[in-house]
Amino acid sequence: MTLKVGIIGCGSIATHRHAPEYSSNPYTQIHLVYDPNPERAQKLAAQYGGQVAGSWEEVVHHPELAAISDCSTNEMHHIITTQALLAGKHVLCEKPMATTSEGAETILAAARASGKILMVDHNQRLVPAHQKARQLIAAGELGKILSFKTSFGHKGPEYWSANRTKGTWFFKKARSALGVAGDLGIHKVDLLRYLLQDEIVQVSAFADVLDKKDEQGQPIEVCDHMVCLLKTQSGAVGTASFSWSYYGDEDNSTILYGERGIMKIFADPQKDIEVVTAGGERAVYQIGAMQTNDAQTKSGVIDTFVEAIRTGTAPAVTGEDGLYALRIIEAAMESAATGRSVELFV
Ligand SMILES: NC(=O)c1ccc[n+]([C@@H]2O[C@H](COP(=O)([O-])OP(=O)(O)OC[C@H]3O[C@@H](n4cnc5c(N)ncnc54)[C@H](O)[C@@H]3O)[C@@H](O)[C@H]2O)c1
Repeated sequence: MTLKVGIIGCGSIATHRHAPEYSSNPYTQIHLVYDPNPERAQKLAAQYGGQVAGSWEEVVHHPELAAISDCSTNEMHHIITTQALLAGKHVLCEKPMATTSEGAETILAAARASGKILMVDHNQRLVPAHQKARQLIAAGELGKILSFKTSFGHKGPEYWSANRTKGTWFFKKARSALGVAGDLGIHKVDLLRYLLQDEIVQVSAFADVLDKKDEQGQPIEVCDHMVCLLKTQSGAVGTASFSWSYYGDEDNSTILYGERGIMKIFADPQKDIEVVTAGGERAVYQIGAMQTNDAQTKSGVIDTFVEAIRTGTAPAVTGEDGLYALRIIEAAMESAATGRSVELFV
């Protein structure tokens, strides 16, 4: 049976991932799309099919739709995703799930009340090299993980967003809320939870506007850099760096330091995963590069979401995962604002 789907927000993530991946999924058909910028909605519909709606409410309440991708800007997720769930739709919500944990809890309550599938697009979990790394770690390849170092940085959303100017919503506090921390950082804190199967329990962070200027030439309203110290429940300690000002190759690397060796993931452009043991043995796993802003490949997110709907099973990234990641980022923001370390209770 074909599932009719709707897409709300027809900017870059809808254009690069959601629409093409629904289009290539054998079980889905794009039926309705909406964007407050009608040209973007028309362009997406012309390329991938579907009609253009006059409002997001029309999409949410459309009786024929089974599922919705919420690709709207951050400040709208807790409204649109909540209403879509309450209207009986399965929802794939973009990250960050909301701009506050209260917003994320509202979404979770709607998911529980409706019984519909809610997935949050922390797509780094679906990258084959990350899945392989998790298996190797769980199999004890590195022994106990003692420390880690993860980074996510590129040249900034003004080179990615549908509005490719310094006026992009990503730079506005009222819309993006969390700056680079909610854009890139949230992917990496979710990835750490996934790889380590451990919880982050303490965070210290610096967050600053080091470089980006808005359309008036003033420093942007949200952080463009964040550097965190993180401690896990099992006692591992590590660092996480997020930046919109890495003006060269994108950095999406993670290095894990264990009792028996080191695992480097995407740390070398020639090697997806390299494991180096304490005895000096080296193993390289070539499993496939991950998507970058300049080189989009299939993320597998839509196939995973659709599979969860079809089988009635929990999606690969749950609403609870989205909330945990957001809580870690909120704790990092609090630490940066107060200069104190913040504990998280799990
Ligand atoms: N999972 C990922 O790897 C990933 C990557 C990039 C962006 N994102 C997320 O996807 C979301 C969209 O980001 P983007 O990169 O496509 O940004 P974008 O600026 O390219 O597109 C956002 C679109 O949302 C539309 N919009 C604004 N207000 C709206 C509203 N009230 N209702 C519906 N649509 C509205 C805009 O007109 C625009 O077309 C953000 O939450 C972002 O964090 C996720």
